[in-house]
Amino acid sequence: MSHKVAVLVSGSGTNLQALLDAQQAGHLPVSFSVVLSNKADAYALERARAAGIPTLVVEHKEFPSREAFDQAMIDALAPYAIDTLVLAGFMRILTPVFVRQFEGRLLNVHPSLLPLYRGLNTHQRALDNKDKFHGCSIHFVSDELDGGPLIAQAQVPVLATDSADSLAQRVHQSEHLLYPKVLLWRAKEQLTLTDKGVTLDGKLLPNQGCQFSLMEDTNRLELISATAS
Ligand code: GAR
Repeated sequence: MSHKVAVLVSGSGTNLQALLDAQQAGHLPVSFSVVLSNKADAYALERARAAGIPTLVVEHKEFPSREAFDQAMIDALAPYAIDTLVLAGFMRILTPVFVRQFEGRLLNVHPSLLPLYRGLNTHQRALDNKDKFHGCSIHFVSDELDGGPLIAQAQVPVLATDSADSLAQRVHQSEHLLYPKVLLWRAKEQLTLTDKGVTLDGKLLPNQGCQFSLMEDTNRLELISATAS
């Protein structure tokens, strides 16, 4: 049976689109059960509808507390019996009850090389710090904001001419390549969260996860450390 995925979104949904494109091209053997947004006007919902995927809107502002909102999402997702829940630009902090419910099945993408720059404005912060490399991270989600065991990172060089926008564009490019790759590992049951850390093909990954580098011109990721395909 196909690996069942739900995607949580808040915004434009370019990461969702990258996952949908990979699946439609036959590179990602999963079925997208539902796309849930906390905002009714998120463009990501249009992308889901265009791909024929059921959508749900659970608006956080309708609920008196984070706990009540998260419980409503748990209830809304329950009928789908999801194998992996993907956060793709979902901009709400999740409560421990939600995280526990999906522990080991909950992935997030963040636009920085974590643990650097949790939260917002990551591209400007990397520029302000004169970092030579920036990038994105994909991790299993824990209670901490943008925290949890790292699965993979893609490095992007910071150029002397970069603005926050130009850097953001390349980081997005890296996210769109890395997320389908990581979800494929989940679909093929290669990727697991264990008591000791994250394992890929039964082997424990280093704390930073698999390290890739963006090859911008050819739109590919090159593996630079840790074993992965
Ligand atoms: C992505 O860059 C993602 O890394 C970031 O939001 C953007 C969503 O873009 N997520 C976070 O900052 C989570 N803390 P998208 O809606 O076009 O996929």
